[in-house]
Amino acid sequence: MRKKIITGNWKMNYTVNEAEAFITSILESINTTEIDVVICPNFTALDRLSNLLDNKNVKLGAQNVSYETKGAYTGETSVDMLYALDVEYCIVGHSERRQILNETNEIVNLKAKKLLAKGINPIICVGETLTERNENKLYDVISNQVKNGLKDISSEDVKTKVVMAYEPIWAIGTGVTATTEQAEDMCKYIRNIVCEIYSESVANNLRIQYGGSVNPKNANEILNMENIDGALVGGASLTNDFVAIVNYQ
Ligand code: PGA
Repeated sequence: MRKKIITGNWKMNYTVNEAEAFITSILESINTTEIDVVICPNFTALDRLSNLLDNKNVKLGAQNVSYETKGAYTGETSVDMLYALDVEYCIVGHSERRQILNETNEIVNLKAKKLLAKGINPIICVGETLTERNENKLYDVISNQVKNGLKDISSEDVKTKVVMAYEPIWAIGTGVTATTEQAEDMCKYIRNIVCEIYSESVANNLRIQYGGSVNPKNANEILNMENIDGALVGGASLTNDFVAIVNYQ
Protein backbone atom coordinates (compact mmCIF):
# COMPACT_ATOMS: atom_id res chain seq x y z
CA MET A 1 0.00 0.00 0.00
CA ARG A 2 1.62 3.25 -1.13
CA LYS A 3 1.46 6.17 1.29
CA LYS A 4 -0.16 9.20 -0.31
CA ILE A 5 1.93 12.34 -0.69
CA ILE A 6 0.51 15.84 -1.12
CA THR A 7 2.99 18.59 -1.97
CA GLY A 8 2.41 22.33 -1.96
CA ASN A 9 4.59 24.14 -4.51
CA TRP A 10 4.53 27.82 -3.54
CA LYS A 11 6.59 28.83 -6.58
CA MET A 12 7.72 32.49 -6.40
CA ASN A 13 5.18 33.51 -3.79
CA TYR A 14 5.41 34.57 -0.13
CA THR A 15 8.26 36.50 1.47
CA VAL A 16 9.81 34.83 4.49
CA ASN A 17 7.47 36.67 6.88
CA GLU A 18 4.42 35.85 4.78
CA ALA A 19 5.54 32.24 4.61
CA GLU A 20 5.83 32.06 8.39
CA ALA A 21 2.42 33.68 8.92
CA PHE A 22 0.70 31.35 6.47
CA ILE A 23 2.29 28.13 7.65
CA THR A 24 1.56 29.05 11.26
CA SER A 25 -2.09 29.60 10.36
CA ILE A 26 -2.53 26.16 8.76
CA LEU A 27 -0.12 23.96 10.70
CA GLU A 28 -2.53 22.92 13.44
CA SER A 29 -5.11 21.81 10.87
CA ILE A 30 -2.63 19.43 9.24
CA ASN A 31 -2.17 16.74 11.81
CA THR A 32 -2.38 13.63 9.73
CA THR A 33 0.40 11.08 9.72
CA GLU A 34 -1.45 8.85 7.27
CA ILE A 35 -0.21 10.85 4.33
CA ASP A 36 3.02 12.73 3.69
CA VAL A 37 2.44 16.46 3.45
CA VAL A 38 5.27 18.51 1.96
CA ILE A 39 5.61 22.28 1.56
CA CYS A 40 8.08 23.72 -0.96
CA PRO A 41 8.57 27.42 -0.23
CA ASN A 42 10.98 29.78 -1.95
CA PHE A 43 14.65 29.30 -0.96
CA THR A 44 14.57 32.49 1.14
CA ALA A 45 11.97 30.94 3.45
CA LEU A 46 13.56 27.50 3.84
CA ASP A 47 15.59 28.31 6.95
CA ARG A 48 12.66 29.84 8.85
CA LEU A 49 10.29 27.08 7.83
CA SER A 50 12.84 24.44 8.73
CA ASN A 51 12.67 25.66 12.32
CA LEU A 52 8.89 26.01 12.33
CA LEU A 53 8.32 22.53 10.89
CA ASP A 54 10.74 20.78 13.21
CA ASN A 55 8.87 17.83 14.78
CA LYS A 56 5.69 18.68 12.89
CA ASN A 57 3.70 16.59 10.44
CA VAL A 58 4.55 18.83 7.51
CA LYS A 59 7.81 18.08 5.73
CA LEU A 60 10.06 20.60 4.06
CA GLY A 61 10.78 20.59 0.35
CA ALA A 62 12.73 22.81 -2.06
CA GLN A 63 11.74 23.86 -5.57
CA ASN A 64 15.10 23.36 -7.25
CA VAL A 65 18.75 22.43 -6.67
CA SER A 66 22.05 22.65 -8.53
CA TYR A 67 23.56 19.52 -10.04
CA GLU A 68 27.00 20.88 -9.21
CA THR A 69 28.51 20.19 -5.80
CA LYS A 70 29.86 23.62 -4.82
CA GLY A 71 31.87 26.54 -6.11
CA ALA A 72 31.59 29.33 -8.64
CA TYR A 73 27.93 28.95 -9.66
CA THR A 74 26.40 32.34 -8.94
CA GLY A 75 22.79 32.13 -7.87
CA GLU A 76 22.74 28.36 -7.46
CA THR A 77 21.91 26.30 -4.35
CA SER A 78 23.68 23.06 -3.52
CA VAL A 79 22.36 19.80 -2.18
CA ASP A 80 24.52 20.24 0.94
CA MET A 81 22.81 23.59 1.56
CA LEU A 82 19.40 21.95 1.40
CA TYR A 83 20.51 19.04 3.54
CA ALA A 84 21.80 21.43 6.22
CA LEU A 85 18.26 22.81 6.50
CA ASP A 86 16.69 19.37 6.86
CA VAL A 87 15.05 19.57 3.46
CA GLU A 88 13.57 16.14 2.74
CA TYR A 89 12.13 16.61 -0.76
CA CYS A 90 13.03 18.65 -3.82
CA ILE A 91 11.05 19.25 -7.00
CA VAL A 92 13.06 18.76 -10.19
CA GLY A 93 12.04 19.28 -13.79
CA HIS A 94 8.96 21.36 -13.13
CA SER A 95 7.56 22.40 -16.51
CA GLU A 96 8.09 26.07 -15.67
CA ARG A 97 11.81 25.34 -15.35
CA ARG A 98 11.84 23.11 -18.41
CA GLN A 99 10.02 25.70 -20.53
CA ILE A 100 11.25 29.04 -19.19
CA LEU A 101 14.73 28.03 -18.04
CA ASN A 102 15.46 25.39 -20.67
CA GLU A 103 15.97 22.53 -18.24
CA THR A 104 16.57 19.36 -20.23
CA ASN A 105 15.91 15.74 -19.29
CA GLU A 106 19.67 15.36 -18.77
CA ILE A 107 19.78 18.23 -16.27
CA VAL A 108 16.71 16.87 -14.47
CA ASN A 109 18.42 13.49 -14.21
CA LEU A 110 21.68 14.99 -12.87
CA LYS A 111 19.74 16.92 -10.23
CA ALA A 112 17.75 13.87 -9.16
CA LYS A 113 20.94 11.81 -8.77
CA LYS A 114 22.63 14.59 -6.81
CA LEU A 115 19.69 14.70 -4.39
CA LEU A 116 19.57 10.94 -3.98
CA ALA A 117 23.27 10.80 -3.20
CA LYS A 118 22.49 12.95 -0.17
CA GLY A 119 19.32 11.07 0.76
CA ILE A 120 16.90 13.81 -0.35
CA ASN A 121 13.79 12.61 -2.22
CA PRO A 122 13.44 14.05 -5.72
CA ILE A 123 9.97 14.82 -7.03
CA ILE A 124 10.55 14.40 -10.75
CA CYS A 125 7.96 16.23 -12.86
CA VAL A 126 6.94 15.15 -16.33
CA GLY A 127 4.18 16.42 -18.59
CA GLU A 128 3.15 17.19 -22.15
CA THR A 129 2.00 20.38 -23.85
CA LEU A 130 -1.48 20.66 -25.34
CA THR A 131 -0.03 20.51 -28.85
CA GLU A 132 1.84 17.31 -28.02
CA ARG A 133 -1.38 15.81 -26.66
CA ASN A 134 -3.44 16.92 -29.64
CA GLU A 135 -0.85 15.55 -32.05
CA ASN A 136 -0.90 12.24 -30.19
CA LYS A 137 2.73 12.57 -29.18
CA LEU A 138 2.07 12.48 -25.47
CA TYR A 139 3.08 8.88 -24.85
CA ASP A 140 6.43 9.39 -26.59
CA VAL A 141 7.05 12.64 -24.74
CA ILE A 142 6.25 11.17 -21.33
CA SER A 143 8.16 7.97 -22.01
CA ASN A 144 11.22 10.00 -23.00
CA GLN A 145 10.99 12.20 -19.90
CA VAL A 146 10.55 9.23 -17.57
CA LYS A 147 13.30 7.09 -19.08
CA ASN A 148 15.85 9.92 -19.25
CA GLY A 149 14.83 11.37 -15.90
CA LEU A 150 15.44 8.02 -14.19
CA LYS A 151 18.62 7.13 -16.11
CA ASP A 152 21.18 5.35 -13.91
CA ILE A 153 19.03 5.68 -10.77
CA SER A 154 19.03 2.45 -8.76
CA SER A 155 15.93 0.35 -8.34
CA GLU A 156 16.17 0.78 -4.57
CA ASP A 157 16.08 4.57 -4.91
CA VAL A 158 13.15 4.46 -7.32
CA LYS A 159 11.32 2.10 -5.01
CA THR A 160 11.83 4.02 -1.79
CA LYS A 161 12.83 7.62 -2.48
CA VAL A 162 11.83 8.89 -5.91
CA VAL A 163 8.41 10.50 -6.38
CA MET A 164 7.15 11.15 -9.91
CA ALA A 165 4.65 13.87 -10.72
CA TYR A 166 2.55 13.79 -13.87
CA GLU A 167 1.72 17.39 -14.66
CA PRO A 168 0.12 18.08 -18.04
CA ILE A 169 1.39 21.56 -18.90
CA TRP A 170 -1.98 22.66 -20.23
CA ALA A 171 -3.52 22.03 -16.79
CA ILE A 172 -0.99 24.00 -14.72
CA GLY A 173 -2.32 27.30 -13.36
CA THR A 174 -5.05 27.33 -15.98
CA GLY A 175 -8.01 26.14 -13.96
CA VAL A 176 -8.34 23.31 -16.50
CA THR A 177 -7.85 19.97 -14.78
CA ALA A 178 -7.15 16.79 -16.66
CA THR A 179 -10.12 14.48 -16.32
CA THR A 180 -9.56 11.82 -13.71
CA GLU A 181 -9.45 9.27 -16.53
CA GLN A 182 -6.71 11.22 -18.36
CA ALA A 183 -4.70 11.62 -15.14
CA GLU A 184 -5.10 7.97 -14.19
CA ASP A 185 -4.27 6.81 -17.70
CA MET A 186 -0.98 8.73 -17.72
CA CYS A 187 0.03 7.77 -14.17
CA LYS A 188 -0.64 4.13 -15.09
CA TYR A 189 1.42 4.59 -18.24
CA ILE A 190 4.33 5.98 -16.17
CA ARG A 191 4.06 3.02 -13.79
CA ASN A 192 4.19 0.61 -16.75
CA ILE A 193 7.34 2.27 -18.08
CA VAL A 194 8.96 1.93 -14.66
CA CYS A 195 7.89 -1.71 -14.61
CA GLU A 196 9.60 -2.24 -17.97
CA ILE A 197 12.83 -0.52 -16.91
CA TYR A 198 13.00 -1.95 -13.39
CA SER A 199 10.50 -4.52 -12.15
CA GLU A 200 6.92 -4.92 -11.05
CA SER A 201 7.87 -4.54 -7.42
CA VAL A 202 9.68 -1.24 -8.08
CA ALA A 203 6.74 0.03 -10.14
CA ASN A 204 4.25 -0.98 -7.47
CA ASN A 205 6.17 0.90 -4.80
CA LEU A 206 6.81 4.10 -6.77
CA ARG A 207 4.61 7.02 -5.76
CA ILE A 208 3.15 9.04 -8.64
CA GLN A 209 1.45 12.39 -8.04
CA TYR A 210 -0.91 14.25 -10.34
CA GLY A 211 -0.51 18.02 -10.64
CA GLY A 212 -2.45 20.67 -12.52
CA SER A 213 -5.27 22.77 -11.06
CA VAL A 214 -5.92 20.43 -8.13
CA ASN A 215 -8.46 22.03 -5.79
CA PRO A 216 -10.70 20.97 -2.87
CA LYS A 217 -13.51 20.04 -5.28
CA ASN A 218 -11.56 17.65 -7.50
CA ALA A 219 -9.02 16.32 -4.98
CA ASN A 220 -11.10 13.46 -3.64
CA GLU A 221 -11.84 11.96 -7.05
CA ILE A 222 -8.27 12.37 -8.30
CA LEU A 223 -6.68 10.98 -5.15
CA ASN A 224 -8.89 7.91 -5.19
CA MET A 225 -7.65 6.72 -8.56
CA GLU A 226 -5.71 3.48 -8.47
CA ASN A 227 -2.43 4.78 -9.87
CA ILE A 228 -2.48 8.29 -8.41
CA ASP A 229 -0.66 8.46 -5.09
CA GLY A 230 -0.87 12.14 -4.37
CA ALA A 231 -1.05 15.66 -5.69
CA LEU A 232 1.40 18.41 -6.55
CA VAL A 233 -0.54 21.56 -5.80
CA GLY A 234 0.40 25.04 -6.99
CA GLY A 235 -2.12 27.87 -6.67
CA ALA A 236 -4.37 26.13 -4.13
CA SER A 237 -1.41 25.49 -1.81
CA LEU A 238 -1.21 29.24 -1.10
CA THR A 239 -4.57 29.35 0.67
CA ASN A 240 -6.66 27.38 3.13
CA ASP A 241 -7.69 25.24 0.16
CA PHE A 242 -4.50 23.31 0.82
CA VAL A 243 -5.87 22.14 4.17
CA ALA A 244 -9.06 20.99 2.46
CA ILE A 245 -7.04 19.10 -0.14
CA VAL A 246 -4.96 17.38 2.55
CA ASN A 247 -8.20 16.42 4.31
CA TYR A 248 -9.73 15.18 1.05
CA GLN A 249 -11.08 11.93 2.43
P1 PGA B 1 -1.44 24.57 -10.18
O1 PGA B 1 0.12 24.26 -10.31
O2 PGA B 1 -1.98 23.72 -9.07
O3 PGA B 1 -1.51 26.05 -9.85
O4 PGA B 1 -2.06 24.26 -11.48
C1 PGA B 1 0.60 22.95 -10.20
C2 PGA B 1 2.08 22.94 -10.33
O5 PGA B 1 2.63 23.75 -11.08
O6 PGA B 1 2.76 22.13 -9.68
